[in-house]
Amino acid sequence: RPPPPPGPLEYGGVKLVNDAEHPFKPPRKGDIRGPCPALNTLANHGYISRNGIESPSNIVRAAMEGFNMNNDLAKFTCYAAFIVNGNMVTDLVSIGEKSKKTGPDPKDQPATIGGLNTHNVFEGDSSMTRADFYDGGDVESFNETLFQGFLEYSYRFGGGRYNLTAAGEYRLKRTQDGIQNNPTFTIVAPRLFSAYSESVNPINLWVDGRQDDGQLRLDHARSFFEAARYPDDFHRAARPMSADNEAVVHAIHPLEPGANVAGVNTYTVDRNAPRLDDKCGIFEYHVNTTLRTLYPNPRGNLLDAIRANIHYFYTSVQARGCTEIFPYGRF
Ligand code: HEM
Ligand code: MG
Repeated sequence: RPPPPPGPLEYGGVKLVNDAEHPFKPPRKGDIRGPCPALNTLANHGYISRNGIESPSNIVRAAMEGFNMNNDLAKFTCYAAFIVNGNMVTDLVSIGEKSKKTGPDPKDQPATIGGLNTHNVFEGDSSMTRADFYDGGDVESFNETLFQGFLEYSYRFGGGRYNLTAAGEYRLKRTQDGIQNNPTFTIVAPRLFSAYSESVNPINLWVDGRQDDGQLRLDHARSFFEAARYPDDFHRAARPMSADNEAVVHAIHPLEPGANVAGVNTYTVDRNAPRLDDKCGIFEYHVNTTLRTLYPNPRGNLLDAIRANIHYFYTSVQARGCTEIFPYGRF
């Protein structure tokens, strides 16, 4: 049985995280980086394995320690991504492309164990600084053209900082880009959750904890998004943060889950998909729809590992009063 994720930090306050024990080193040949600028940063500073292959429990620990992401959001994000992209038997996931280093793939399952850059099981459309899959297939490389849009919106709506107003406007812009140019554009669970969480993560988790004012400096934004490097002397957030103010960003231009169903400009709301505020629904949809499609008939060690990981994922929404589900039998 895979080890359970760690609980909350003992000391959850502000702290120097770009410290002597965690120096920046660029990835070596063969090291894997991916679509998440924060995980890339944690790897470049040695908070997770520098080769980009890690266990979910260590990723949760590093997201808390290195960024002060709170325990529930770290678990929710990590297990949502791990169960669809990782190897549950070896308990390893690649933070980018598919890799042999996660071990032999389980047999006779459609799951690809493809790493975090796999399109449409967790990674999805309308990223802020990465292209849509439809637009050339590279969903993980930093894209300067898109980042220029991020800067432009931060100047226009944030007075030269990335803040909640800029986030709301830029999220609409990236959604409209997709609706108008990407015939395969889709935003349902878990992408609806991740898109809004990722819009506020830079505000909650990349503003130095001594500054703590929700206004992200744009040189710091570039340091994280492009170089995947902590700014000099960076101190993590002042307290454990969830996807704080996600609802504020969503309310600026509300979006319901949906997709372009017949080419560009045909965005249609999916009434069966959970809405952003329905975290229990997003959890259930991810397990009952996405995961079960990847693993229709697991047995043996794999079955045990799936049960355990669904339970660990569930613990992230337990405090919200969500009901535990057992689609593969009891844990
Ligand atoms: C994007 C995974 C933690 C900030 C992503 C993406 C993945 C991912 C797969 C790509 C989604 C997409 O844009 O299509 C994870 C996992 C985490 C984690 C498994 C484990 C806890 C964090 C943390 C932060 C963060 C701690 C902030 C400190 C972001 C941001 C993006 C992103 C800002 C959006 C990049 C963009 O739109 O250009 N993450 N992440 N993530 N993540 Fe993470
Ligand atoms: Mg993406």
